[in-house]
Amino acid sequence: MKNLIDIMQMSTEELQELINRALDIIDNPAKYAQACRGKKLATLFFEPSTRTRLSFEAAMYELGGNVIGFSEAKSSSAAKGESVADTVRTVGCYADIIAMRHPKEGAPLVATRTAGVPVVNAGDGGHNHPTQTLADLLTIYREKGTFENLTVGLCGDLKFGRTVHSLISAMSRYPGVRFVLISPEELRVPRYLITDLLEPNGIPYEEVTDLEAAMPQLDILYMTRVQRERFFNEADYLRLKDTYILTPEKLRTAKQDLAILHPLPRVNEISVAVDDDPRACYFKQVLNGKYMRMALILKLLEVNV
Ligand code: CP
Repeated sequence: MKNLIDIMQMSTEELQELINRALDIIDNPAKYAQACRGKKLATLFFEPSTRTRLSFEAAMYELGGNVIGFSEAKSSSAAKGESVADTVRTVGCYADIIAMRHPKEGAPLVATRTAGVPVVNAGDGGHNHPTQTLADLLTIYREKGTFENLTVGLCGDLKFGRTVHSLISAMSRYPGVRFVLISPEELRVPRYLITDLLEPNGIPYEEVTDLEAAMPQLDILYMTRVQRERFFNEADYLRLKDTYILTPEKLRTAKQDLAILHPLPRVNEISVAVDDDPRACYFKQVLNGKYMRMALILKLLEVNV
């Protein structure tokens, strides 16, 4: 694997190898402290980010490497009209690996054609976010010890939430997984996930609007933010943004071993009162993201430790 653009590029065996590597990094950080000495990561973020950019940067520093990059398009020559292809061809002269976030779906794939170094999709529009899925998978694995026979509820903006699309794709390959897709009618998952993935593969799913009714059956609850930046119409955003707000009261019927995930940032969809619930895993997820990005950098740079 030379790039990571879509999580489905990785087999379940490769994902397990990456998880095992991340677990080894957690247990033996000193072993990896100089693994990328002399290597440079470029973080090219044409859209805002806290976790993805900073965790990539922290990951590279903890591997002994260095980081260059920009955190907004207007501080790069994209503001003067430079194409993505030319930008990454340039950055490929300076860096050994590129992590790129872009508002246009497919932009990281375009980047792979001219970069000359590995490119990682750090989020492309409303499409995919494969390294968030790596964080999600490590969190699920550490909480549940397996990916099999889980009922996974995804709640909120399933239309524009790119992390949802990548996670459904990844989890759909494990036996016994069922999806409960909880959203307003207007924010249901893109139809291609139903027609090209879930239905042809006989993967059980239901689309519902009521979070509380779905709650008792869930092993995983993956909450998401309504993606204001992808709406064409502010009035629609305002009408839909508070459809689901997870509170301690709404968790009364949940399983005792439910794992509550959220890719973050959160706006209003999980009450801060839930943060103290032992089932809340979203800040563990943040940390897991750094370890999985460390494992991914090692893999793409073909560094053997
Ligand atoms: N989960 C995630 O992608 O967060 P950021 O937008 O802060 O990177």
